[in-house]
Amino acid sequence: MSEQRVAVVTGGGRGIGKAIVEALAQQGYAVVIADLDEAAVKAVAAEIESKGTPALGVVANVTVQGDVDGMMKAAVDRFGRIDVLVNNAGVTRDGLLMRMDDDAWDMVIDINLKGAFRCTRAVSKIMGKQRVGRIINIASIVGQMGNAGQANYCASKGGLIGMTKSNARELAKRNITVNAVAPGFIATDMTDALPEKVREELAAQIPMERLGSSEDVAAAVVYLASESAAYVTGQVLAVNGGMYM
Ligand code: NAI
Repeated sequence: MSEQRVAVVTGGGRGIGKAIVEALAQQGYAVVIADLDEAAVKAVAAEIESKGTPALGVVANVTVQGDVDGMMKAAVDRFGRIDVLVNNAGVTRDGLLMRMDDDAWDMVIDINLKGAFRCTRAVSKIMGKQRVGRIINIASIVGQMGNAGQANYCASKGGLIGMTKSNARELAKRNITVNAVAPGFIATDMTDALPEKVREELAAQIPMERLGSSEDVAAAVVYLASESAAYVTGQVLAVNGGMYM
């Protein structure tokens, strides 16, 4: 492994993705921030570079294969390799089953599940040649236990867990590990959108009696990316305050 390790984080412009970018940069990784949001991508890259860590912002939509290929190419052109891919880009389009339309289903699956597939397929070619790599998928507690009103989202995250295990089996012989982190309820823009009452009810179901932080999730990603996790693959690391065990 070369001295400068390189990590690509999708959806790295804000929230959990941004915390992952910051944590990996702190560990000395050069970071590639890939996100739809151009202003966020530029701001996060500038912030990381100002602290002395190389960073590259790429505007990319994980639903567009050309963007995904462009993101990986930009990373390799600038840094020469990709050691870590974090599939973090994700959205919700909640609604009760009987009222959920096809667009809401397709959009969430296309971003959360197929987006991760597109990125993994592209990076596996690069990591396969390197004979080393770490792929970390940000799943969710609701992909493990379900949640009323989130058929599309739960299916995408449950699918991501299945894909994690399949890819872990397939890529192990090339020294590429594939793991998932399953956050519980984390305080970000995504959960800020929930009504106060719903957030209070959620906190009451969590043994640790609070929502998690983006940093709690980022720490799990740092571990799975590290040398210490070299023999860990196909696993789902829950970061959920004990809400689901
Ligand atoms: P967020 O909504 O704050 O940030 C998501 C980021 O992804 C945004 O910067 C957005 O621009 C980007 N993005 C959305 N669609 C994209 C696309 N097609 N291509 C590229 N980038 C795109 O969300 P948050 O809360 O930070 O969530 C991050 C991940 O963690 C998601 O996969 C989410 O499902 C997962 N998660 C979040 C939990 C929470 O409680 N906030 C709990 C469990 C999982």
